[in-house]
Parts: sequence; C-alpha cells; structure tokens
Amino acid sequence: MNQPDFPEVIPNWIDGCEVKSSAGETFDKLSPATGKELCRVARSRSADVAQAIEAAMKAFPAWSLQTPVVRGEILMAVTRAIGQHQNDIAAIAAAETGMSFNAASAETDAAIAQGKFMAGEGRRLYGRTTTSAVPNKWAMTVREPLGVAGLIIAANTPIANIAWKVFPALVCGNTAVLKAAEGAPATAWFFGKLARAAGLPPGVLNIVQGFGPEAGAPLVADPRVAVLSFTGSTTVGREIARTAGSRLARVSLELGGKNPLVVCDDADLDPAATWVLRSAFSNAGQRCAAGSRIIVFDAVYDRFRDLLIERTRRLKVGPGNDDDFGPVINAGQLDAVLAAVERARQAGASVLTGGHRLDDPAHASGFYMAPTIIEHASPDAEISVSELFGPVTCLYRVPDFSEALRRANQSPYGLTACIHTRSVHRALEFTRRVQAGVAVVNAGTFGSEPHWPFGGVKFSGNGTREPGTEALDVYSNLKNIILTFDPNHV
Ligand code: NAI
Ligand code: MG
Repeated sequence: MNQPDFPEVIPNWIDGCEVKSSAGETFDKLSPATGKELCRVARSRSADVAQAIEAAMKAFPAWSLQTPVVRGEILMAVTRAIGQHQNDIAAIAAAETGMSFNAASAETDAAIAQGKFMAGEGRRLYGRTTTSAVPNKWAMTVREPLGVAGLIIAANTPIANIAWKVFPALVCGNTAVLKAAEGAPATAWFFGKLARAAGLPPGVLNIVQGFGPEAGAPLVADPRVAVLSFTGSTTVGREIARTAGSRLARVSLELGGKNPLVVCDDADLDPAATWVLRSAFSNAGQRCAAGSRIIVFDAVYDRFRDLLIERTRRLKVGPGNDDDFGPVINAGQLDAVLAAVERARQAGASVLTGGHRLDDPAHASGFYMAPTIIEHASPDAEISVSELFGPVTCLYRVPDFSEALRRANQSPYGLTACIHTRSVHRALEFTRRVQAGVAVVNAGTFGSEPHWPFGGVKFSGNGTREPGTEALDVYSNLKNIILTFDPNHV
C-alpha cells in the first residue's frame, strides 16, 4: 500500500492553479484512525469562492462551445488518469476517511465507472425530434449547458461523491466550482491535480476547500451560479433550497435517509443477516443509504436478532483491509452518535450490543464506535426518525407484511428500502408501495451503479435523480428548435 503524499497545506484549485486561501487561513484535518493531524487545509471564504466563480465564468464560453464529443474525450482522459493513480487515490481517501485501502480502492472503481459512463454521453447527449400540427414544420430538442455549476458534497465516499457530480456537470458543457467536503479535502485536491494534468482546461473545474457556512454558503448565494447540486444533510439541503430558490437557481438535493430493511418470515435468514450487517455497518454506517431500521416478522424475530447479535460481535473494527469497518469521520460526529444512543436508552430502548466508543489501546485515539444494535425503540422515538450517520441500527418487531410496510413508510425520509423474502408477491407489492427512490429485493439498502438514477422522496431530496442519464436533466437546459421550410422554394 502506498503512503499518501500530502502537501503540508491542501490548496484550492482556481483557474488551473493551486492557490492558498486569500486570507492565508487554514484548518487542521485530523486522521479519523489516529486522531492525529494529517494536513492543514486552505480555509476559504467568500473572496476565494468569488475568485473561483470568476474563473469558471471565464472558462465557460470556450468549454460550452467545445463539442460534447471532445468534452467526453477529455473526461475520458481524466478517467484514465484516475485508473493510473488508483492506488494513490485509495491511499489518500483511506487516510482521510479511515476506511480501509481496499474499500477506498473499490470506491475509486465506482468513480472510474462513472467517468466512463459520463464521458460516453459526449457521443450521445440525445435530444429528440418530433412532429408539428402545422405543415412543413418540425421540431427538435437539444441540450444546452446552464453555466457555472456549484457542487457541494459530503465526505463519506469522497472520490465517488466527486465523480458523481463533476463528470455529468462537465460533459453537459458547464464549468464548475466544487466545494470539497471539509472531512475529505485531499481526495478533492488530488482529483483536481489529475484532471489538470490530463488536459482539463484551466477554470473548467475549480475546487474550493473550507467549511460549509464559510465556503459553501457564498457559492449558493452567488447569482452567477446557475445550478447547485448538493449531497449532504437534510438540514443544510433545506437551507440551500431556500437561498437558491429566491434567485430561481436550479437545485438538485441528495439528502439523508433512514432506510428500512424488512425481513419476512420466509426470508433466508443467513444471507439476510449478511445484508443487514453490510447495510448497517459498512463505511461505519456513513452512507445516506445505510440500513438503519430493520423490520422483522415476529415469527423469526428472536432467531434473527440472536443471529445478528452473534455476527455483529464478531465484526472487526479498524482501518485495515481485514477489518469490517473503520472510524467515523471526526470526534464531533462520534459524540453526536453516542449521545443519540444514550438518549434512546433513556427513552426506554435497549442496546443489544455496542453502544459505546472503542477505547482499547488500538482504538482509543481514533474515532471508533462499536457496531450497535438497538431494540424496543418506539417507531416515533428520535432514534427511529433521525439519521445518525454512524454504525447503529434498530430492530422492530412486526406481526405481518402489512405492518412491515406501514412501518417502512413511517419515516420523514424515503431514500432506499429493501425486503428479504422468497415470495414474488411480497417482493413486488413491497417495491410498488414502499415510499423510496430505490427499492431492493434480497440484497442491501445500498449499492447504486453509475448508470442508475439515485435519489429519494420526502426529506431525502427534491425529486432530482443523479447520476444515470437522469443527471443530464440536472445539468442541462432543453431548447426546442423549430424548423420551417417551404417546398415551393426547393
Ligand atoms: P452536511 O450537510 O453537514 O455537509 C455536507 C456539505 O455541505 C459539506 O461540504 C459542508 O461543508 C457543506 N455545508 C454545510 N453547511 C453549508 C451551508 N450552510 N451552505 C453550503 N454548504 C454547506 O453533511 P455531512 O454531515 O457532511 O454528511 C452527512 C450527510 O450527507 C447525511 O445526511 C447523509 O445522508 C448525506 N449524504 C447523502 C447522500 C445522497 O446521495 N443522498 C450521499 C452521502 C451523504
Ligand atoms: Mg454535518
């Protein structure tokens, strides 16, 4: 495994150059695995954001007039560079998130797949031709870029989060300002470096480091930013929608989840348990699509609970490839999750396993939490309705299918949902009636692919879908071009 090579201070990328924040301020980025300082990071504010938007504005005319095929070829070169530097990226992402090298490498595969898919859109970017009620007239729709795209992301799967937004935004002909996640600054910086070296023209992708209110909010407020795509919490998403709404900027929001996984009495319990553990605990539960509400039929509840507890106690927590999952992103996040579990306990829930920080010598200095299973939480308790973004899941006992479905839908969120059953009738009825943007049968609550639309209903988003070809609708305008002709003039 490579040791990542960080600059001492992670800079911004503006107009093709690495630049410090204009005030020279920095913040410390700690390693989630050790609690030690990993690097310092440019702490940008509105002046830096304005500079980045300026650069994106300047680069827009040439980039938007470039043919989509050429844009796609440049993005394919960026994608190849990611492949050539996969080990470097994985090492950097692992160091700054605490996930294992192998997990970070798999995430890099997802970013490469996204790059390939979106680069190929340069040769499609289809519109349609259609008819007219009037003789000698026909119509076609074409896609046009919007202008400068403001991209704001979470840290949980850093390279995939970057790829999911940057590739579709750029292939559509927009230029972009990416506000990197403060928890994963180096991955974004390295992406910018690779993109520049692979031939992305200066100013097409600018990357600003810093905190949300200081470096994200000015991007949202700036009237020169035509479209905002945000991946993060519902609270911040609502704030962004409010600000951007007042100037009628387009907004795409990929927000939180409280995703149900139903285990029926006819499910294969062993694979169901495997999928519950992966859904709840992989990436330390830091997934918008994490399975955090496990709804189990009464007939198999006790057996399934015991199986889960036994297998959860065998999970290994740490930063290595042999571990099942790593730390959470920072101390504040760890404290917030621990406090939520404590409040649940006080409200009458039982902690079946976990519920505490790992404080043995191997884990004490990192931000590690034991995998945690909770039962007897009431369906409307705080822990049942609010997203934790940590390795915690709750079990709920239900008598039958209709109560399982009702419980699954009893949530402010509606991102993903899953059912384990051998019955095609239950599977189809569940996928039809569950309120979610993604409905899965006999697998996990997560696992989206680059060519599939992803997004949620209710508080999980505002109805847009990324990536897939649906992302093209976020990042382009449709223009309807009407052609008339006169056969007498031929
Ligand atoms: P967060 O909402 O606190 O931050 C996300 C990003 O927004 C960061 O870059 C942050 O700096 C920025 N930000 C914060 N306040 C801002 C403001 N006032 N204006 C502009 N930008 C601001 O989210 P966090 O805690 O970093 O990530 C976890 C959340 O992200 C969870 O809710 C999770 O479900 C969600 N998420 C959603 C995904 C999806 O595709 N639906 C995927 C991954 C995470
Ligand atoms: Mg947050």
